[in-house]
Parts: sequence; structure tokens; C-alpha cells
Amino acid sequence: MSILPGTSPDSLTEDRLKQHVADELERGRSRSIALTTDLLDEPELLAQHSTLMSPLVWDLAHVGNYEELWLLREAAGIQAMRPELDDLYDAFEHPRATRPSLPLLRPAEAGDYIALVRRKVLDALDRLRLDPGRELLDSGFVFGMVLQHEHQHDETMLATHQLRRGDPVLPASDALPAPSALITRAEVLVPAGPFPMGTSADSWALDNERPAHQVDVASYLIDTVPVSNAAYRAFVEAGGYDDERLWSEAGWDWRCRSGKRAPAFWLREGGTWLRRRFTRVEPLPDEEPVQHVCWFEADAYARWAGRRLPTEAEWEKAASWDAASRTKTRFPWGEDAPTAERANLGQARYHPTAAGSFPAGAAPCGALQMVGDVWEWTSTDFTGYPGFRAFPYREYSEVFFDQGYKVLRGGCWATDPLACRTTFRNWDHPIRRQIFSGFRTARDA
Ligand code: AVJ
Ligand code: FE
Repeated sequence: MSILPGTSPDSLTEDRLKQHVADELERGRSRSIALTTDLLDEPELLAQHSTLMSPLVWDLAHVGNYEELWLLREAAGIQAMRPELDDLYDAFEHPRATRPSLPLLRPAEAGDYIALVRRKVLDALDRLRLDPGRELLDSGFVFGMVLQHEHQHDETMLATHQLRRGDPVLPASDALPAPSALITRAEVLVPAGPFPMGTSADSWALDNERPAHQVDVASYLIDTVPVSNAAYRAFVEAGGYDDERLWSEAGWDWRCRSGKRAPAFWLREGGTWLRRRFTRVEPLPDEEPVQHVCWFEADAYARWAGRRLPTEAEWEKAASWDAASRTKTRFPWGEDAPTAERANLGQARYHPTAAGSFPAGAAPCGALQMVGDVWEWTSTDFTGYPGFRAFPYREYSEVFFDQGYKVLRGGCWATDPLACRTTFRNWDHPIRRQIFSGFRTARDA
């Protein structure tokens, strides 16, 4: 039986783990191809659809170059195949806006390059021992890191697709209904007490999730579900964008400079709100969680509602801690991998699902949709946990600490189950809205 994506690598024997890695390498690559060379022609793949994003073919070759660097050179000790590519696909050498003017591999060349890397990786996977004596290979960590990296870029590609104009290439609608719950409480109480934040046990957790450490959290109330389009529209229509008192100083500055008056991709036509979703314009669905809001907008909405954003610790405690049994779990519902009944993850559809979906995915405190649907902004600045150690390289997380990035949690509909868990940390600038970002609010109890 094949192993569900998002299954803990720590529950598998070495043979099963290797098989799982091979299956997941294949699944991840099919996804990348399906978002690029299967969909668009060469000019569109080389084009820059927004200065915020890379040309799609940059992401594709970058994913292969990262795989070569970490799996072939670092893990397997194989010499560089194309050392001249390292500079081109180094995210720190070339900011996104400058990438279209680089001598990038054409789509066909990029496809050949990543396929060649992949053949050698599968050979190496056969040969290598997932040796506890080598930190990079222990429990297949470096394979898990590379798999998560590809899925993160696939999500980035979807954000690029959202910014792209032109003929539709992604599916218009889906056949998959979401199981719905009855929301009986607008907010749920999380009683005071310490909980273990982060993880030291999860073998595929990335450096910024480590180590597990006790955090004492005062009691608080948190929204049962993410803030919906209808709720956010009420803030827009109440003049929230014109009331300076609702905004932080930096947020008001952003609001004035940008001139924004609604979430990204919202349009108003003759008194009704529409949204653009992957080149198609459609009515704004009231009940879906709002997405494409920046941190400043989330913060202002929360103040308007007489509330605040949850801290990162509050978010993680609500999502992962069962106060009754004093246990912490990888997912809100427990240890088992995500399924279609538990969460809207993995690009199963191309939008978030109605707030109040997925009763089977509820957290012990009663909160729904903590995982999947929309990334949730927290009030916390991205920094290292006490005892943090950069591994295997400083540029994954450490160079972003204390630089004004805000933490987002929970993954979204575009996040693969393999790159999502209750300890997973994402971060972005507080002005960013092209990501699939929403939020829920909280208050002191
Ligand atoms: C964790 C999503 C902020 O896309 O910048 C990709 C992930 N790191 N390649 C990003 C990442 C290196 C990262 N985020
Ligand atoms: Fe990357």
C-alpha cells in the first residue's frame, strides 16, 4: 500500500522510507511539470508575469539545481554537473525582478537538466544508507528537505499563475465538495498553561521549527474559523480603509502609499464584489476565507472587530495541543496524514473552502481549518527559537530572522501535505498579498 503524503517519516522502516521518498519525488515532479511545461509555451514560461515573481522556468530549473546541490553533491558526494548554473539559480545572487534578463535555460533545456539530476538521485537513493551517523541523511532528512523545497516552489508557481493575465490554463471549477460542519461557536477558549512549541522529534522538520521548548500561554479566545470574505467585506464597506485609528503606523503608511482599498484581486462592479481568480472573474464567495490580504490589512481588520491577531504561540497551541490528554500532535486531528476529509491541502481545488468546512479536521480546542485553506498571519515577528541552530544552511531561515518578516501558519489550499504540519513556519513581509494569505482573530480571555 502506498504511504499517504504527510505521513511522519519516523513511523517508517528504512526500506519503506526509501520507497516513500521515491514515490514522493515522482509525485512532486509531476506537480511541477503540470504547473509549467505542460501548461504554457516557451515565451510564457520565460516571461515575468509580475516583478514580485520569477519566470516560471526559473523556479523549475532552480528546483533541479537545489536537488543537485543537496542530494547529489552534499549527500552523495557527486561532482557538479553544470557548475555554471549555480549562480543563475541562486536566489540570493539575483533578486526576482532581475531574473528574466538572465541567460536562463530554455524550458526544454531545463526539463532535460532536471530529469538528468533526477535519474542520478534515484540511483543515489538506492545506494545510500539513511544513516543516523550522518546528520544530513538521518531518517532521510535531506530528501525530506528537497521534497518540501519543490512543493514550496510549486506553491510559488501558483502565486505566479494568479498574477498572470491571458487565456485561462488552470481548471475553472472542481467536482470535489468539502465536508461542512455546523459552527456553533464563533470563538473557542484555550485555557492558560504551558505547551511544547516547535519540535525536536519530527525528522523532516526544518531548522526553524526546532528545538521543542516550553512556552507558557495565558488563556485566550480564538476564532473557530478564518475570517470570511463576507466578514472582511463588512470592514471594507464600513470604511475600514479610511479610518487611520484602525491601522498601525506602518500599516497606515502602506495604505496611503499603495492606495489599496480592498484585498488583492477584488473588483467592484455596479455595487457587487467580484474577484479575479487565475484569469477568470467570478462573484466573490461570501463564505470562503478571505485571501490575498497583507499583514497590515489583517491587523487593521482585527482592531476594527475589537480583537487582535493571535501570537504565533497561540496559533500553534490552538492547532496542536490537547489540554485534556496533555499531548501535542503533528496535525490538529492527531498524528495521521491529511486526507480529503480533514483539510483543504495539496491543490485538490484552486481556492479555499467555506469557513466551517472539515469537521473531521477539528483541533482539540474546537478550532476548524487550522491547517489548509489559507495561510494565517500571526502577530509575531519571524525569529529563531531558543536554542536554534542553522541546519543545513543559514540561508533557509536564519538570514531572515529579525528582519521585519511576520510569521504565517497552517498552510493553504496550495500547500502540499508533505510541506505542512502544525509546527511548520512560513514568513513574509507585512506588505505581501500575492501569497494565499488570510487570518483569524483572537482576544485575551
Ligand atoms: C519559506 C516560503 C518563505 O519561498 O522564500 C524556497 C521557501 N526557501 N526556497 C520562500 C524557500 C528556499 C521560502 N518560504
Ligand atoms: Fe528555493
